[in-house]
Amino acid sequence: MTTIAVLGNGRVGGNLAAALTRAGHEVTVADRTPGAAVAAARTAQIVINATPGAGSLDLFVALREELRGKILVDVSNATVDAPDGLPADLLYPGSSLAEQLQEALPETRVVKTLNTMLFPVMTAPATLTRAPDAFLSGEDPKAKQTVREVLIDLGWREEWITDLGGIQSARATEAAILFVPHVIRSSGFVPFAISIAR
Ligand SMILES: NC(=O)c1ccc[n+]([C@@H]2O[C@H](COP(=O)([O-])OP(=O)(O)OC[C@H]3O[C@@H](n4cnc5c(N)ncnc54)[C@H](OP(=O)(O)O)[C@@H]3O)[C@@H](O)[C@H]2O)c1
Repeated sequence: MTTIAVLGNGRVGGNLAAALTRAGHEVTVADRTPGAAVAAARTAQIVINATPGAGSLDLFVALREELRGKILVDVSNATVDAPDGLPADLLYPGSSLAEQLQEALPETRVVKTLNTMLFPVMTAPATLTRAPDAFLSGEDPKAKQTVREVLIDLGWREEWITDLGGIQSARATEAAILFVPHVIRSSGFVPFAISIAR
């Protein structure tokens, strides 16, 4: 059992919090209520970023003290959005939100994962017609191992989890967001994951 704080109570945060609770973890969800994020992050061993990527850097830099020594699992995507609300471009071209977070929070171990799929897949990967990939990016092998175990609790199989390497590899998975508006416009809001065929 791990104590996990989920920041953001939307589609991703609510779905992850429910599944992690079902898996036996002690989960706190923080919304915008003043003080909620600080209180949740302070007591957690792992903190999950499920907030809109454009505001994530400011939000998590303000939690520097609470995040010291902890794992920050970043599942968000930082985008510039089109008028229809779908992602249109990257907010950090030539970098990534995960790299920005890791640089700003050197005493926190940032692990990027689960940002390459629609939210229902995060907690039900076995429901797709083909096995999806969950990618891991981060500097700390132990932190990535801990996050791997959390993914397994969410229904991911070992062979579906691919460690891409250091935090800079999040640049690749964050760029995969550029597929999303086109897939949704062409196929509708059907759960999918961006995966590597082998
Ligand atoms: N939806 C997907 O399928 C999907 C898949 C992969 C990755 N992602 C990424 O996951 C993140 C969340 O996506 P989502 O679809 O769950 O968005 P969402 O439904 O809009 O939820 C975002 C939540 O974050 C909350 N929030 C915003 N600022 C906050 C703050 N400062 N403190 C605490 N909570 C705050 C929002 O609250 P308010 O309602 O008050 O604004 C909202 O409840 C995004 O970065 C997105 O790119 C989404």
